[in-house]
Amino acid sequence: MADASDKFKQDFVTEKRKASDRKLKIGIIGTGWIAECHMDSYKKQKDVEITAGADLIPGKAQAFFKKYGMKNVRCYPSHKEMLDSEELDAVSVCTYNKTHAECTVYALNKGVNVLLEKPMCVTLDEAAAICRAEKASGKVLSIGFQPRFDGNMQEIKKIVESGKLGKVYYIQTGGGRRRGIPTPFGTSFISKDTGCIGALGDIGCYSLDMVLNAVGYPKPLTVTGYKSDFFGKNPANYPKHPEYAEIFGVDDFAAAFIRLEGGIILDFRIAWAMNMDTPGDTVILGTKGGLRIPSTECWNGSVGGNMKLYHEVAGTQCETVIPLVETVPFERLFDFKIRSFLDAVIYGDPVAVPSSQIIINQAIIDGINRSSELGKEIEINIPEIS
Ligand SMILES: NC(=O)c1ccc[n+]([C@@H]2O[C@H](COP(=O)([O-])OP(=O)(O)OC[C@H]3O[C@@H](n4cnc5c(N)ncnc54)[C@H](O)[C@@H]3O)[C@@H](O)[C@H]2O)c1
Repeated sequence: MADASDKFKQDFVTEKRKASDRKLKIGIIGTGWIAECHMDSYKKQKDVEITAGADLIPGKAQAFFKKYGMKNVRCYPSHKEMLDSEELDAVSVCTYNKTHAECTVYALNKGVNVLLEKPMCVTLDEAAAICRAEKASGKVLSIGFQPRFDGNMQEIKKIVESGKLGKVYYIQTGGGRRRGIPTPFGTSFISKDTGCIGALGDIGCYSLDMVLNAVGYPKPLTVTGYKSDFFGKNPANYPKHPEYAEIFGVDDFAAAFIRLEGGIILDFRIAWAMNMDTPGDTVILGTKGGLRIPSTECWNGSVGGNMKLYHEVAGTQCETVIPLVETVPFERLFDFKIRSFLDAVIYGDPVAVPSSQIIINQAIIDGINRSSELGKEIEINIPEIS
């Protein structure tokens, strides 16, 4: 990971590609809010052209590209029409969670490389279907976790890998907001029919990725999960749109106790809304040292302050403050995310955020959902991808 982002700091578009090569043809599936971030980054790349876009809402894709002054982009009423009609090299899947899997599988089956927004999808079964399609296609699939490109986030992994913590046996992570149910652009995050999973899929996946990536993505064995919707279902929380309380069909809070391979316990909580400022710092405990990461939502790559390493020196208990790396602005993280995907497609560079890792993230989210619905601990079995 460090290699992937470091090289962008020196040279945004590498010179490895021959000047005579044609530009990569890109399609955008879903032209909502996050598609703008993809567009802004693609537009900075010299070796791509956006040739097609699709959105289920009539006229939305056309209006989207018009805003960018792009008259020649062909627009379609869904991912299927676009992928059936166009010869594309790659697509960004920027749809709401519900359609992540179907769009990604369809694109991979058509032999098109995919940059898929987070969360990977909704269920573990969908994640397995995506991985199978990826394997059968031989194409590139990367999942859109831009915090991976932040220096502070990378520092967490470096510290764990340095051995300074010894054997890691307990992790506490999560994050959240006192009030922050995301409805500025409508209800696609909060409806069961589109978002499908709430805080868990929106910000929970980032907190999970921050720590699981650091410890090498061990598989989950069991999950005891809890979720609730007390704030989401309360009309008082939407002064301008009390009807949103009726539409709300996902979690606004989730908590879980997860046993991971390698004898690690993961204690997790996430909130879109709660009567608290933060559910706590992220803590990684090991036999030689402990790391405290001040509370963060992760999504923009920020950490909530200096990380601290608790360790012993010659029998004396010490604390080392880890200097903050300069935070990369959100747009720049996005540029790294897009560029790393393109470099994987064009040059065969390692995929920055591979599905083999994120299926584990999805298995935990799926496990929390199922355990919460069943009201008991469940076993997690990640299918073999053949
Ligand atoms: N990486 C980040 O920082 C970040 C930030 C926000 C959102 N996201 C993710 O991006 C995704 C989209 O979020 P958003 O805020 O842009 O949502 P949005 O609701 O604004 O846009 C999604 C669009 O996808 C379209 N769509 C759905 N299925 C489609 C299909 N089969 N074919 C064509 N169009 C389809 C919808 O009509 C809608 O216009 C979510 O999964 C979210 O988790 C990521």
